[in-house]
Amino acid sequence: MVNYQDKNWQDSMKLKLDYNNMMSFIVGEENGLTENQINSMEEIVKLAHKKVFEKTGKGNEFLGFLDLPLKGKEELDKIKSVGNKLANSTDKFISLGIGGSYLGVKALFDALKSPYHNEISRDKRNNKPKVYFEGNNLDSDSMSHLFDLLPQSPSDNIEDKFCVVVISKSGGTVETALSFRLFQEKAKQFYGDKSNQYIVAVTDESKGKLKSISDKEGYESFVIPDNVGGRYSILTPVGLLPAVIMGIDIDQLLAGANYMKSLCEVDDWKSNPACMYAALQYLSYKQGRNISAMAAWSKGMESLGFWYDQLCAESLGKDGQGRVPFTIVNNRDLHSRGQELQDGEYNTVVTNLFVEQPNHGITFNKNIEDLDSLNYLDGKSIKSMQFGALEGTNYAYAKDKRPTMNILFPQLNEFTLGQFFYMFEVATVIEGYLNNINPLDQPGVEAYKKFMFANLGREDMKKYKEEFDSRQQPNDTFVI
Ligand code: PA5
Repeated sequence: MVNYQDKNWQDSMKLKLDYNNMMSFIVGEENGLTENQINSMEEIVKLAHKKVFEKTGKGNEFLGFLDLPLKGKEELDKIKSVGNKLANSTDKFISLGIGGSYLGVKALFDALKSPYHNEISRDKRNNKPKVYFEGNNLDSDSMSHLFDLLPQSPSDNIEDKFCVVVISKSGGTVETALSFRLFQEKAKQFYGDKSNQYIVAVTDESKGKLKSISDKEGYESFVIPDNVGGRYSILTPVGLLPAVIMGIDIDQLLAGANYMKSLCEVDDWKSNPACMYAALQYLSYKQGRNISAMAAWSKGMESLGFWYDQLCAESLGKDGQGRVPFTIVNNRDLHSRGQELQDGEYNTVVTNLFVEQPNHGITFNKNIEDLDSLNYLDGKSIKSMQFGALEGTNYAYAKDKRPTMNILFPQLNEFTLGQFFYMFEVATVIEGYLNNINPLDQPGVEAYKKFMFANLGREDMKKYKEEFDSRQQPNDTFVI
């Protein structure tokens, strides 16, 4: 058992930002950044940083996420008690939510649990339930396949029992609400009038349909604070309750976030990872690097990239500007996207996420026949080979004047993940302020909803239906 409150241990787990390969002395003047360019950012970065921590910038009513690592004991005790009760009494946990009410939970699950979690026996899962995600689409095939896994008739067998956590801040997101209605019906069929013991809602304190449904049906519920936006909510019950059900140590997660908070609060901007990451991306964007890849060097980190895709795209992609984020997994995607990143347009920046010490090491040993001629790898760990691949790839990119930077995780655990979430949330707001936009709203996400609801026949959306019907009509000439 690690003592994650121990300062030495915490320092040994500090995330490192290595941006050597962003610099002109490595990738050349035209594509790299000079120290002078970075230094010239001092005033505006410090101002943006001040606006964040003094909560005076655009969208400051949603900066509540900054204080989440210091959550009160009472709330944490309730999250643990409800989460553990569900974990101990059910064998399938269904998490319903979309966007910020989904991606962080999925990131935690994929990063910290076996990719075969649902296939291993309950005792090997530490007596935690299997995990399923729904409510993030309008996909009847996907939902039906999950219904097929649910029991058809009441049973006392724990393997048949399931719980549902529905997460929606607004309580009105149709993708989540619709699937919740269907899963509520399944729960009622299976548990009868006890179904409310197996359903928990995470939503607004007082507003929205999900809150009123919970009150009426007697579901346990948790609050997403008003001052925390969806994509910044991983350290609220949105992420913490599912984490407890999955057997993830939320105290350690919050301790990691709190550790990063102490690094991000400092005024010395060049030792502050959030300020530096924001400054590097901002300068690169101004140089025309408008595509940014997050390269996860572990399969389990792919969903961290998807979490960041949303954070970056929904926060920074507005007012006709914003870099386009996407996620890759290496070595897998060195054999696909790698071609373009090495040889395509000069408009990309790659951020590598690399874990230095794997949780499960494998060492390669020679054999007598050496039929595959791999004996030269004798005694090497897979991790050291992966590091060789990272360094080799960064060098190949740098040689062709393509900048990269590394976020180095000493290990992949709750503490380092807490740091990751907090650092990237702060960095995103700082970058938004550097670009003079509001990184805490999402007006673009609202646009599709009006016309979708109009097409679904919602009474209050009639005027959008009229607009939709009078749109320029498609022409069959252009359908082949
Ligand atoms: O970041 C955001 O605010 C959004 O991505 C929301 O998380 C997403 O739209 C889901 O909203 P809700 O939690 O209200 O269902």
